[in-house]
Amino acid sequence: MAWIKHVRSAIKWLSVVLAVLLSLFLVHQCFLPILAFVFPSLSSAFFDLGVYGFYPTQQFISFDLLGPQPKRLRWDDRCDKGYIMTTPNGPSVERPGPMMLDAKGELVWISDDFGATANFKVQRYKGEDYLTLWSGEKAATSGKGVYFMIDSTYQVVRMVSAVGENLFGDLHEFKITEHGTALLSVYNTTTADLRGMGRGRGANGWIVDNLFQEVDLETGELLFQWSAAANFDPVETYMTNPFGGYWESIPFDFYHLNSIDKDSLGNYLISSRHFHHVTCISPTGEILWILGGRDNQFKDLSDGKATDFRWQHDARWVSEEEGILTLFDNQKAGPIHSDAPASRAMFIKLDIPNRTAELVQSFESLQGILASSQGSVQVFSDSHQTFVGWGSAAAYSEYDQAGNLMCETHLGASWFYWFERFKSYRTTKSFTWRGNPKNPPQAKIDDDSLFVSWNGATEVAYWALEVSRDEASPEAERDDPAPGAQTEALRSQRWENIDIIPKTGFEGAFDLPSVPSSEKPFTHYRVAALDKEHAILRYTELIGYDDDDTESSTLMILFKLFLVIGILAGVRLMFKFYRSGQSFRSWSNTQKPVWADWSPPSTYVRRARRSMPFEWIQMKWTGARRPR
Ligand SMILES: *[C@@H]1O[C@H](CO)[C@@H](O)[C@H](O)[C@H]1NC(C)=O
Ligand SMILES: *[C@@H]1O[C@H](CO)[C@@H](O)[C@H](O)[C@H]1NC(C)=O
Repeated sequence: MAWIKHVRSAIKWLSVVLAVLLSLFLVHQCFLPILAFVFPSLSSAFFDLGVYGFYPTQQFISFDLLGPQPKRLRWDDRCDKGYIMTTPNGPSVERPGPMMLDAKGELVWISDDFGATANFKVQRYKGEDYLTLWSGEKAATSGKGVYFMIDSTYQVVRMVSAVGENLFGDLHEFKITEHGTALLSVYNTTTADLRGMGRGRGANGWIVDNLFQEVDLETGELLFQWSAAANFDPVETYMTNPFGGYWESIPFDFYHLNSIDKDSLGNYLISSRHFHHVTCISPTGEILWILGGRDNQFKDLSDGKATDFRWQHDARWVSEEEGILTLFDNQKAGPIHSDAPASRAMFIKLDIPNRTAELVQSFESLQGILASSQGSVQVFSDSHQTFVGWGSAAAYSEYDQAGNLMCETHLGASWFYWFERFKSYRTTKSFTWRGNPKNPPQAKIDDDSLFVSWNGATEVAYWALEVSRDEASPEAERDDPAPGAQTEALRSQRWENIDIIPKTGFEGAFDLPSVPSSEKPFTHYRVAALDKEHAILRYTELIGYDDDDTESSTLMILFKLFLVIGILAGVRLMFKFYRSGQSFRSWSNTQKPVWADWSPPSTYVRRARRSMPFEWIQMKWTGARRPR
């Protein structure tokens, strides 16, 4: 009966392993949060250790999508302006899409209508601000899709496509110029002579050619096109891909063009990640100069530090007069190409006639993030502050003119940046965006609180709760009232203002008062969104006072009693209260327990959406208005 002994000892060991894992889990999920509660200074460290999840999120009652629960590791009030545009995606992001945050990292606008997105920014066209983004299908290192322009009411008003048969807009660049044109990138799979690359690659090997186009936004006319394959030999690439180039399905991405900028003379400035260079191209397509990489033409006045950028992104002119450009120097592309301990934002000063380059400044993140892909650098022309998005790492930072790190916010746990569970191709800031959504604010009663939010509204300063004691017409009570019926009902009802609260985060919460039985009960609620001057911006729809709710709220209380009984639940409650600064009651209503974030997010949504974009684009586009 020797086998029984073996089984016994196996069970014994298994239980030991399980017990160890369980205790580690308990330490991670219970003990560390208690520590963080007792010693608040530890909470940043625990955030970065993933105690609250890879990408801690916040749930709302009046709105279905999740917002982030950012950790500001460093803060300075000079960062407290503007809106941050980012496109979260990755395994920890259940519903990817464009996301706008305020300067402190609170959700302002989010949408999951666009499928896979990238390069979400505010750009000006004909004197008006638009949100612009790429939307489409992602391939390994590029994308096939279109670019959308969205107006201040959050309606798509324009769709821009690449010009040419079987050519699609790629995710890396969509830049609107001052002259009403757009610069965009196109990745086109084609054949090339790859015999020089060796390993049996043929004269008809497969590559991704990187084109860029300048397109007139009004007419859609193609004004300029340039091809990397027509100008550079794939053999010069720094990228390694043992399988690339043999089959059409695995073309060699030899150049990887990832940014396009245009100067006042009409020259184009482009960045190639896989050639480690920035190139200037004349309006007739000639290469004027090359900075960095194998073909570098500049003498480095900073002992190699000005031209040794690798796998970089987002090269832009900051000051043409002074010859200063910025770029995001990744220094890494996957596990086999890791060339420096940290990524950096670089300011490089060029003397073009003399072909010299000098490193003016370079900025690293607080913990020296090494971002294996993506990333962006943006310099604000008036404050001279610099905003850096760390690409494959869920973080962004802001620096003052002298290069001091003023602010750094983590949207995900930094110990796990390596896993790229939350990434955003670029992260940018806008100081001019004003959102006035077409859709009204939304409110929902839960238990005896009323929650209100308005996705995308930037001008709301207060929420005002109004009640009515009138019976509304049955028409207004319907879930789907006839057009105008609700407005009519609202007009005929008398409303009392009973509470006003400042808007602090994405969602506001009112405690609903109980009406003494001697008074006439409330029949309806509504919330007004007010601006700074207390002017009414918009009302929510009527919210009926539902008697059924009282019953379910009794059940809720019982349920909550159960919830609160366990010590763990109590501890988590306290801890959550401390973290979110909200009341206990609203925590138990609004927050999903943190451990729920540990289960892998449902892949169903993402899979279902993957094939959608093109159908979706057509739908969205048919309904789009022309810009004014
Ligand atoms: C794109 O690639 C195809 C081959 O797959 C080629 O025929 C076509 O000319 C290319 N387009 C451009 C604009 O280079
Ligand atoms: C650059 O060249 C100009 C002449 O073209 C010369 O006057 C100037 O001193 C040079 N600058 C440097 C830094 O060498």
